[in-house]
Amino acid sequence: MNRRELTYKNIQIAPSLLSADFANMVRDIKELENAGADLLHCDVMDGVFVPNITFGIKMIEDIRKITNLRLDAHLMIVEPEKYIERFAKAGADIITVHIEAVKNAKQAIKQIKDCGALGGIVLNPETEIHAIKEVLPYCDMVLVMSVHPGFGGQKFIESSLQKLKDIKAMIKALDKDIDLEIDGGINFDNVDQVIDAGANIIVAGNTVFSAKDKKNAINRLRGNKII
Ligand code: DX5
Ligand code: ZN
Repeated sequence: MNRRELTYKNIQIAPSLLSADFANMVRDIKELENAGADLLHCDVMDGVFVPNITFGIKMIEDIRKITNLRLDAHLMIVEPEKYIERFAKAGADIITVHIEAVKNAKQAIKQIKDCGALGGIVLNPETEIHAIKEVLPYCDMVLVMSVHPGFGGQKFIESSLQKLKDIKAMIKALDKDIDLEIDGGINFDNVDQVIDAGANIIVAGNTVFSAKDKKNAINRLRGNKII
């Protein structure tokens, strides 16, 4: 096994349903299952925390009924604490809340875990890493936004690479098993860099959904040979 294969061994690909056809969710999710997706990234937006509105609890609940893939709920909403329990009950396996949106990050992560889900903290591009220092030991996952949240298909913000490296170093120093997820503008050209910088869960909306062959796209993101 060469270095590239080794590095890519534990990489998980999380296609973002934001790029799916909402009127054909069943079809699109089945296609992602067949294509080998590891997680489904569900972008929940309220039009207040971000300048866009997508879907909420009912959508997660309905998606839960049609797939066994793990659901990764990215809450881009104000006062996420109010809804954590309902998202968990709806079937989200991972719930991530923005450090910019929570009153008390440690409390919010505890709330997620008490509901039986995995808890993650998200940072916007302009948020510095010291903001998550205190909550990090309690997190199952950190999600680094590499675009300004709100829309798919944006350009990757290069400074996210250094941010990944710095957070990876913080995780290593804690010696804990904390996943590092990257979200926004990931494509075939920059995926190697984000993985080298420490990301192990890769969100991809446009790159997966604009590909004719989604299996091939997921394999390429994962670093497997093109088939
Ligand atoms: C943006 C969302 C992302 C988005 C990623 O607010 O959080 O998950 O769907 O889409 P791409 O991969 O197209 O940048
Ligand atoms: Zn997202």
